[in-house]
Amino acid sequence: MSITILGIESSCDDTSAAVIRDGILLSNVIASQKVHEEYGGVVPELASRAHQQNIVPVVDAALKRAGVDKGDLDAIAFTRGPGLLGSLLVGTSFAKGLSLGLRIPIVDVNHLHGHVLSHFVRRKEDDVVPEFPFLCLLISGGNSQIVLVRSYNDMEILGQTIDDAAGEAFDKCAKVMGLPYPGGPYIDRLAAEGDPKRFRFAKPHIPGLDYSFSGLKTSFLYTLRDELKADPDFLKNNMADLAASLQATIIDILLHKLDLAVKQTGVKTVAIGGGVSANSGVRQAIADYCERRGLTAFIPERAFTTDNAAMVAIAGYYKYLDKEFCRYDSAPFARVTM
Ligand code: KG4
Repeated sequence: MSITILGIESSCDDTSAAVIRDGILLSNVIASQKVHEEYGGVVPELASRAHQQNIVPVVDAALKRAGVDKGDLDAIAFTRGPGLLGSLLVGTSFAKGLSLGLRIPIVDVNHLHGHVLSHFVRRKEDDVVPEFPFLCLLISGGNSQIVLVRSYNDMEILGQTIDDAAGEAFDKCAKVMGLPYPGGPYIDRLAAEGDPKRFRFAKPHIPGLDYSFSGLKTSFLYTLRDELKADPDFLKNNMADLAASLQATIIDILLHKLDLAVKQTGVKTVAIGGGVSANSGVRQAIADYCERRGLTAFIPERAFTTDNAAMVAIAGYYKYLDKEFCRYDSAPFARVTM
């Protein structure tokens, strides 16, 4: 008997719905919210309102594209957290309402589990997926974690950032450079033209497998301040080298702890996920690192690096198989848990 899951994602500023049947993706619709651009960051209240406007048409489009009638659904998976509370409430309430109407169960999904399990979204039967156990480097605007994945529903955070996330380091430095929000993709593009060895920024000395990115941010700021004192046109003339050096430093920091985790755990497979895993330099560095060490690398399609409901639907599918359903009085949660 086949199992069809509708996934709903509304944790931040993307409203997304996806349909997965027996682990195979049938549709994945994402409505991004443009309204935040002029504010240089996501405005939570505007995000929830936009989710409310988007959610019905987005779910409708996902079902139509999948060629699935809502009566064919077996369960609805939704992101319960972490994220913006108002945004999460929209997806959570919608999932509960639809499930009551259709008399099918709901499955709550941890957004971070979703990012990890995005590697199991298959477009066709014979697509290759990671073998357990593996390490997932989860790098986004809000998190930087090394996760040991033992099975679909058994994961452990081995290390995580004690201050800023990798994405924040990209975005905050990009902001100082006068680039639009979010700055990560702009740094990525500029870095391709620059010299990654031109500037040296501070690297953290944090014990264990935890990360820290706030010192790098300060060091970047001080370099810029000192150079600008000597030459007011410094920024304008050195954008590419600054971007390339910043990106190279972030990659070094990420790989250093990842390598320690690989040595400690002895895993043979490494995956990456989250918004920053869209970065060209990060993708190349992970591929090269795995090749050097004889590991198998899983690098997600760019469409699955940012927030999407396909990953929510697949995480919900595996919880459904374990009969892990969610109660109707479950509320969304804003903070990180795993
Ligand atoms: O996972 P995600 O969509 O959501 C949050 O956790 O917020 O990640 C967004 C982050 C932002 O910091 C953005 O700048 C970063 O991912 N990002 C990138 C790239 N594409 C997105 N950072 C570096 N290079 C990229 N190409």
